[in-house]
Amino acid sequence: MGFINIQTQASDPEKQRLRASPQVLKLFVLILLVLLVLKISARHRANRITNQHGRKICEIPGDARVSKFAFSQQLSDHGKALAGGEPFIIRNGRARELVVTKPEHIYDFYKGDTRHHPKPPYLNMGKYFSGHVTPFRVPLAPYVFGAIAGERWLMIRRYFDPEFSFQSARQAIPQLSASINRWLDDLPLQATATEKRFALELKKPCRFLPLRLAAEFVYGEVFDDEVAYPTLHPPSIPLQLFSALLELNVLHEVILHDVIANKRLATSLGCWLDRNAAKRIQEFRSRWREFNLRIVQSARKGSQVCPAEKIYRGVERGDLKHEEFLHTLDEILFANVDVSSAVLNTLFEHLAANTAFQQKLRGEIDAHVRSRTRTPDTDTDMDTKTHTEKYLSKQDSHLNYAVMEAMRLSPAFAFSLPECTAIPKEIGGYRVPARCPVVIDAKRLNADPATWGKDSDTYRPERFRDITPSKLRYGFMRFGVGAASGRCLGKHLADTVFKLTLLAVLERYSLHSGQDEPEIEVRYMNQKE
Ligand code: HEM
Repeated sequence: MGFINIQTQASDPEKQRLRASPQVLKLFVLILLVLLVLKISARHRANRITNQHGRKICEIPGDARVSKFAFSQQLSDHGKALAGGEPFIIRNGRARELVVTKPEHIYDFYKGDTRHHPKPPYLNMGKYFSGHVTPFRVPLAPYVFGAIAGERWLMIRRYFDPEFSFQSARQAIPQLSASINRWLDDLPLQATATEKRFALELKKPCRFLPLRLAAEFVYGEVFDDEVAYPTLHPPSIPLQLFSALLELNVLHEVILHDVIANKRLATSLGCWLDRNAAKRIQEFRSRWREFNLRIVQSARKGSQVCPAEKIYRGVERGDLKHEEFLHTLDEILFANVDVSSAVLNTLFEHLAANTAFQQKLRGEIDAHVRSRTRTPDTDTDMDTKTHTEKYLSKQDSHLNYAVMEAMRLSPAFAFSLPECTAIPKEIGGYRVPARCPVVIDAKRLNADPATWGKDSDTYRPERFRDITPSKLRYGFMRFGVGAASGRCLGKHLADTVFKLTLLAVLERYSLHSGQDEPEIEVRYMNQKE
């Protein structure tokens, strides 16, 4: 009543305002509700997936955010026990992700809409990964290459692809080989060596070889060990470029660990409260920027060949954003190079344990070396390079089989980073809505007996002699899979590095399982027992 009295005493415009305000309030509440419903329904989109009989898809209880990376085998086994051969759902923080495991699921997922597949916001990794580490959304690392799709992705690839092409990787054979040989010279120094042999855990030296090779590849002539690089932290101590890169790598590892394991950092508030984490990301960003801009300047000053400098011209033309340039380099050097170390390690561990296959491969390598020296024109570097190029490109060689088998057993991610459907579709018999995040259980796919046969758990590189390319397309997660088979930017470089390293190691040494696992016993080839 009192409210009506006040209204009768008020002036006309005031009356109108008072009459309108509850309606405005209602509208405001309604909009909020709609937004909330949309947000919840988007979050639980993957939760509503059913098959044609209306049966809801299985879901693994609990948050799989950390286990996807740290306990991937257990998560994979759990999914298999729960859903058999069907897709299933895992929870990643607040998001739900559809896990696919079989070649036919991969076929369904990529069918018809691959080009339009979006990535979920910040790859479902949360606020810290997004770089929005304050509630005011001050971007500290606002962009990660693998996390974007569409027009921006195409533009970035336009500048990076030519520098990472098949031709560029093959052109780099002499420089890559020289670095690999220096790395090999250094190996015995890292162990207690006798005249005939030494034993060491190859994991450690394999850890940094791909980082060095990729850095030399992308920074070209500038990446010269003699160049001193004055770091920001601590100031005034000049470092060689590679040492500076290793320092940055340490910081990057801490940040990545935070992204995956520190759940608090998934929310804006958590990021804001953890000032140390925010400082770390800020420090990394400024040091990374400084590092790369110095290299670009150096290249220009000394007129040196430097692929990164060429790519930087895209920033100056306004085609690329500064952040896009820096974060793509960051992803190249710190994220993807790590997966290459894992492949190298798998490669050598299995060769050491399978001396029969190693013998066959060595026979092939010896034949390659003999024919290289016998060919009349191989007295120039260029001809040696062409000869090696041919061997590296052979698909039916033991060298290729060995590399393929190591990549089968050691995929880049046990569970791939999420990528969404663009349109509603059926995957593995389930009706999946558009914009549903999908991840691939790569280890399970790479061991599916339908593709790999009954001995899919065994190391047997020669299996690649008999397997058809169509089976590999959907059944082998290597540099991507299905319609995204070749999406990895570094695929040509990685393939060249693996084969050259294998070639160089087996030219000098034979590998054997060590008495103290995980050590490998390395014997000099020119020494008789
Ligand atoms: C020199 C080494 C490498 C470099 C520089 C590199 C670089 C990259 C980059 C920049 C991306 C993001 C591409 C994009 O989103 O457009 C990528 C994606 C990827 N890379 Fe590599 N990579 C390397 C080695 C490897 C190795 C050894 C593997 C496999 C064991 C691998 C597997 C993948 C996969 C599966 C993706 C995701 C593809 C997708 O989104 O479908 N990469 N790589």
